[in-house]
Amino acid sequence: MKKGIFLALAIMLAVALAGCGSSSDKTSSSGGSEKESKKVKVVTDATFAPFEYMDKGKIVGFDVDLLDAVMKEAGMEYELKNIGWDPLFAAVQGKEADMAVSAITIDKDRKQTYDFSIPYFESTHMILVKEGSTIKNALDLKGKVVGVQNGTTGQTAVEKILGAENKNIKKFENSVVAIMDLVNGGVEAVVTDNAVANEYVKNNPDAKVKAIEDRKNFESEFYGFMFPKGSELKAKIDPALKKVIESGKYTEIYKKWFGKEPNIDNLLK
Ligand code: ARG
Repeated sequence: MKKGIFLALAIMLAVALAGCGSSSDKTSSSGGSEKESKKVKVVTDATFAPFEYMDKGKIVGFDVDLLDAVMKEAGMEYELKNIGWDPLFAAVQGKEADMAVSAITIDKDRKQTYDFSIPYFESTHMILVKEGSTIKNALDLKGKVVGVQNGTTGQTAVEKILGAENKNIKKFENSVVAIMDLVNGGVEAVVTDNAVANEYVKNNPDAKVKAIEDRKNFESEFYGFMFPKGSELKAKIDPALKKVIESGKYTEIYKKWFGKEPNIDNLLK
């Protein structure tokens, strides 16, 4: 007897829940309530000022402001996590992250495994040396101990000059520790992205380090947001990024971090 009532109640409850489920499905597919759980997961390596770095426990930088503007434009919520350089590639490849924003250069090799947004920043490499160093250009790096961030295009650029298997190339987990080693008399030079090299010199006058340009031996490259291969996000992010670049918002963010006007024609061509 009791069992029968219980069963009837259970069935009623199940039917009620099912009905409720389907109606909430409807609202979410029309773009409402599920947003909270659908936050885009963005990862970075916050050791690369002025693009992304930690300041009083917060991730800040040019990339962080740009990401925020783009996600607002696209009408998407997101969360940004600092997980480090090597881990961010694994996270995007394994789709634990939806996107990486980390001054990542769009290059041929990476394009085999990942998709990229349209370009948002033009970069080249620079050489950091101690003041008084005999190194004057990239070819002078031959025979020297050179620090790079592991797995960066800076490493590739140095390998081109010194040879890929060269033991004189010291690979660091991030550029902060590479530059620290230079300051402490470990490596004789560090090759990193020009804006990062310039930022370090500007912020650390006491370190007695200077940045050397070499446009003959270091090519231009472009940064992009990085997605898992085949991600649907690219189709939403690209138009939003383009809008941010064309609308003047990009220029505003660029001026905040670099104190001058950007050349946006190079990005949009
Ligand atoms: N642009 C270089 C590359 O893609 C270095 C980027 C390093 N970024 C960082 N957040 N540590 O290889």
